[in-house]
Amino acid sequence: MIVTIDGPAGAGKSSVARSLAKRLGFRFLDTGSMYRAVVLTAVRRNVPLDDATQLADLAASIRIDVDDNSTRVDGVDVSKAIRTGEITQIIVHAADNVAVREILSKRQREIASGHDVVTEGRDQGTVVFPDADCKIFLTASPEERARRRQADMEAGGESIDFEEVLRRQNRRDEEDYNRPIGRLQKANDAVEVSTDGMTRDEVLDELERIVLQHK
Ligand code: DC
Repeated sequence: MIVTIDGPAGAGKSSVARSLAKRLGFRFLDTGSMYRAVVLTAVRRNVPLDDATQLADLAASIRIDVDDNSTRVDGVDVSKAIRTGEITQIIVHAADNVAVREILSKRQREIASGHDVVTEGRDQGTVVFPDADCKIFLTASPEERARRRQADMEAGGESIDFEEVLRRQNRRDEEDYNRPIGRLQKANDAVEVSTDGMTRDEVLDELERIVLQHK
């Protein structure tokens, strides 16, 4: 069974999707980590981010492995290095690159093949797994999402003020909703869940209920 969870940055997708996968005994696939891994590797290897061909060649030449707890590039654990604000700021180079999207989408299907999976991203229910058994579109208001993002960043040791988080988030929303391919979009057959005012456990219970209805 494939369960897709798409939605904007900061809607709580990662943490909820991971817990949901655990509850269901499914694998968890965080696809944002793959876009992050591509730009991180480009920076580390001095590949110019604005050279679309070189970036796609790089994406095609590396092996990205993602499991429930880690992201690896050619066997090297990059789980922590991909989570910085600097990487988030340059992610658009990978996310807007059509060839990179094709390479990563193919890899996502390979990773999921033959498994029960909860997969999380922007285009999972629309582009990568259009035939998924259960599709969820997870949202929250911009302010609530920015508050959560700020708390996450602080927990990770990065201090940043709320207005700046909101500004960056608005820019990323704009990019995510408007890219020509793989843009953030609710699939026609997705169930929308707005998490404003809900605790994490309430969200988790709701998503589990939705998945069980689709089994
Ligand atoms: O979920 P995240 O913040 O780790 O995602 C990082 C970026 O990657 C996000 O701004 C857009 C891009 N992304 C994408 O374009 N398609 C996906 N399936 C997942 C992420």
